[in-house]
Amino acid sequence: MKNLRLLLIITFLGVTKALPTALAQDYGGLPPGEGRVEVFAWCSACHSTRIIIQQGLTKEDWDDLLVWMTEEQGMQEIETTMREKILNYLSEQFPPERPHYKSGIGIQNN
Ligand code: HEC
Repeated sequence: MKNLRLLLIITFLGVTKALPTALAQDYGGLPPGEGRVEVFAWCSACHSTRIIIQQGLTKEDWDDLLVWMTEEQGMQEIETTMREKILNYLSEQFPPERPHYKSGIGIQNN
């Protein structure tokens, strides 16, 4: 009986420790790079990061999209330095010419 309780405690500790680690390593599938944490924090509040990952836009168009998110979709205004970091990340990772996500990895492409 005592061993079972100990086992449960260990299992519980294991789960609570593993959860944030898994999230931190995954970042909703965003590729590594300067600004990833910020994009994950800002942009996954309302929708999946997949909606971002499947996009391919110029820096100008990403800029417009951020304006659109703020003006039409209720996103909070991002402070200038942070906004620049996010914008750089988005335009570097998801430019128009990159191959877009192929379907078949649990992502709906239509
Ligand atoms: C306050 C909520 C909110 C936040 C925060 C937010 N979005 Fe959105 N976003 C939306 C909504 C709502 C839609 C769906 C709009 C529609 O299709 O009508 C959307 C759609 C999108 C789309 C799809 C556009 C398309 O062409 O269909 C992209 C890309 C996107 N958001 C990127 C971002 C990025 C990048 C960030 C972070 C900088 C972000 N969003 C933060 C609410 C939000």
